[in-house]
Amino acid sequence: MSVQTEITASQKIFDQALEVTPGGVNSSTRALNPALIWRKAQGSTLEDADGRRYIDYHAAFGPIILGHNDPDVNRRVVEALQGPDLVGVGTTEIEVQLAAKLKSHIPSAEKVLLCNSGSEATFHAVRLARAVTGRKKIIKFQGCYHGWHDYLCMNVISPAEKIGQYDFHSAGMLKEAAMQTLVLPFNRIDAVEDALQQHRGEIAAIILEPIPHNIGCVTPVPNFLQGLRELTAIHGTVLIFDEVITGFRHGLGGYQKHAGVTPDLTTVAKSMANGYPSAALCGRADFMDRFQTNRGDVFFAGTYNGHPVGVAAALATIEKMEDGRVHEHIFRLGAYFARELQAILERTGICGHVAHFGSVVVPYFLEGAVETYTDLLSNNAALDVRFRREMVERGFFLLPMALKRNHVSAAHTQEELDLTLEAAETVLKRIARV
Ligand SMILES: Cc1ncc(COP(=O)(O)O)c(C=O)c1O
Repeated sequence: MSVQTEITASQKIFDQALEVTPGGVNSSTRALNPALIWRKAQGSTLEDADGRRYIDYHAAFGPIILGHNDPDVNRRVVEALQGPDLVGVGTTEIEVQLAAKLKSHIPSAEKVLLCNSGSEATFHAVRLARAVTGRKKIIKFQGCYHGWHDYLCMNVISPAEKIGQYDFHSAGMLKEAAMQTLVLPFNRIDAVEDALQQHRGEIAAIILEPIPHNIGCVTPVPNFLQGLRELTAIHGTVLIFDEVITGFRHGLGGYQKHAGVTPDLTTVAKSMANGYPSAALCGRADFMDRFQTNRGDVFFAGTYNGHPVGVAAALATIEKMEDGRVHEHIFRLGAYFARELQAILERTGICGHVAHFGSVVVPYFLEGAVETYTDLLSNNAALDVRFRREMVERGFFLLPMALKRNHVSAAHTQEELDLTLEAAETVLKRIARV
């Protein structure tokens, strides 16, 4: 007698994906167990190929700030397609409008260049910093992610034995280039000062996520960002804020506006265009003018730079946030989510605390304050992933990976948050019992 096992629609499509795509997914961090195939995304919800619905807090790693498939953004994209698609020389009016918009909102943005992804923006930022300083070395921080290129693709979520050493994220990286990057602990200004002294005249740039969101939500201690600004000014080092996540999500002017610290260069992407591919490098005019776009000597190119789809989406997204109501809503719900989740942890007696800024909420399952990556080594990763998995099974999509952040969008409602919290309490009570 043969035993019939049910094959889900997701599994069927995923099996086909495995035939044609290594691992079945198009990005290193997209593998899910069990595999899910998405059929629909609207507002705050996702639907998989088997018709199961989820309230989404993953937000595609952050870009979805208005909600999936925002009708106003989609309309602007369709309108843009009535104009030139891609000409590849000269410029278009909407590219100028978007650059002007970024300049008007982001304190450091005296000039702007458009590209399509965060990795491109950070690559160009590093190259420009090396050109303007004539130096080779870069400082990054353990726990920050800045994209896939060799200069910075290292030391994000590292195992304990790799702290203080190189933790390259890929084979095939050119070590000679990558080792020009020094990795320091976040929030430790003394370590930065020491490195700048030790490598006096050698450090081209310091790059950081002003809140390292790739390890959840580690906020800068008072004076860390200001300290970096002062030290970089003294040492002639370029300060780069990678605001690919924090830009637009934490305010139209990015985290730099909130912190009152203006870097030399800024990279933005993700929630700038609510899920469409759009990114930018912005910064000091005298630096940005070094690009060959201005007959300078630093190469900047890309067939799809300033593509009307991404540009129109970015214009629509930013304009929709300009009256402040989106941020008021997502900040209010984010604070509510964090506060209530913390109360649930306390009621269930599970050791942990909920880190939070604006619309980003991350439960850490550990004791004590988190200032730097090593504090996160005590996170109970097994519990963290189990909590997330059980939430996914109940229809609440929290990325089932330890330390990953949750995002609230303008499409989430108070009722959805309450349902989510109710489920979280059920799951955490079950976990607490065993
Ligand atoms: C802070 C930060 N910088 C850069 C990147 C790279 O962006 P992209 O994936 O668009 O290349 C990411 C991606 O997650 C990021 O979180």
